[in-house]
Amino acid sequence: MPDKPAFDPLPADPRLEMTLRPALLDQFVGQLRIKERLDVLIGAAKQRDDSLEHLLFCGPPGLGKTSLAHIVAKAMGANITTTSGPVIEKAGDLAGLLTTLQKGDVLFIDEIHRLNKNIEEYLYPAMEDFRLDIIIDQGPNARSVRLNLPRFTLIGATTRAGMISAPLRSRFGLVNRLDYYPAEDLQKVIIRSARLLELDILPEAAFEIARRSRGTPRIANNLLRWVRDYVLVRSTPPVTVATADAALTMLEIDQDGLDEMDKRLLEALIHKFDGGPVGLNSLAVSVGEESGTLEEVHEPYLIMEGFLKRTPQGRVAAKRAYEKLGLKPTGSQQQLF
Ligand SMILES: Nc1ncnc2c1ncn2[C@@H]1O[C@H](COP(=O)(O)OP(=O)(O)O)[C@@H](O)[C@H]1O
Ligand SMILES: [Mg+2]
Repeated sequence: MPDKPAFDPLPADPRLEMTLRPALLDQFVGQLRIKERLDVLIGAAKQRDDSLEHLLFCGPPGLGKTSLAHIVAKAMGANITTTSGPVIEKAGDLAGLLTTLQKGDVLFIDEIHRLNKNIEEYLYPAMEDFRLDIIIDQGPNARSVRLNLPRFTLIGATTRAGMISAPLRSRFGLVNRLDYYPAEDLQKVIIRSARLLELDILPEAAFEIARRSRGTPRIANNLLRWVRDYVLVRSTPPVTVATADAALTMLEIDQDGLDEMDKRLLEALIHKFDGGPVGLNSLAVSVGEESGTLEEVHEPYLIMEGFLKRTPQGRVAAKRAYEKLGLKPTGSQQQLF
């Protein structure tokens, strides 16, 4: 089953995403450790006049993986070719992509965990030794041809770090895990975006939107877009906390920033499984989602925010989950807190 994007309260607007996408490392808010590492790698590669090492970005949707790939390519002054794991079906597709690259160019493979295993094997020597051995013709005429490739940089992105095979993972020079953003960082994202959209917003109002954005810049920008439209029709600038709240309430945006699947998961956990402990797979079946997606996209946020716990016996609803559903933990659950 393909990964579903994180719940977007509004349909994405690709044009807006392009406008708001940071182009430089300095414009990329937060994730300091990752930015520092990239800054060092880029600086060193440039000084050595070398291509950059292969990079992997992992983390839930909307946290900035694609943005970082573009920022890195731009900082290196390199061209970037973009593709996605499931699109590369045959070895020939990969060869076609790799042979058009020039020295230093970036090949960005989004959803790299969905790359066909056969293709992955072709990728190993390409990443390691910049060569590609492909078989041409079939039957008795079949022969292997070796293509030498320019020193390119592969940047992979994945929402499912656990699905990257060890051999592939080991061929990246640097693996970066993006975390959810604290509200203070999202507030900066929103203030920056508001400036680009020429929307007058008070810092506290930006914080109110930030707090309800599920730690995710893409959601923050989508909510800001909605608030902008709301203000245009129903209010007047500047955007205040009250207008931001009215706009978000109209969209039924959760006070805690939880999305549909988060809420469904907590409800199942408490109502169907009596608060747990319950195994990940049973939970996944009951909410109709892939267990890996629950584990890597939904649970980290719920755990971070104190709604859920992972225990050796399984998943357990935490105190905030009961409060959220307006319930009190029952006797047997209470001792778990
Ligand atoms: N650190 C950041 N600073 C500012 N804006 C960001 C940041 N991370 C993401 N964004 C915004 O969120 C949008 C989605 O980010 P994107 O890189 O497409 O996420 P991903 O590829 O991880 O799903 C971008 O268009 C950009 O506007
Ligand atoms: Mg992306």
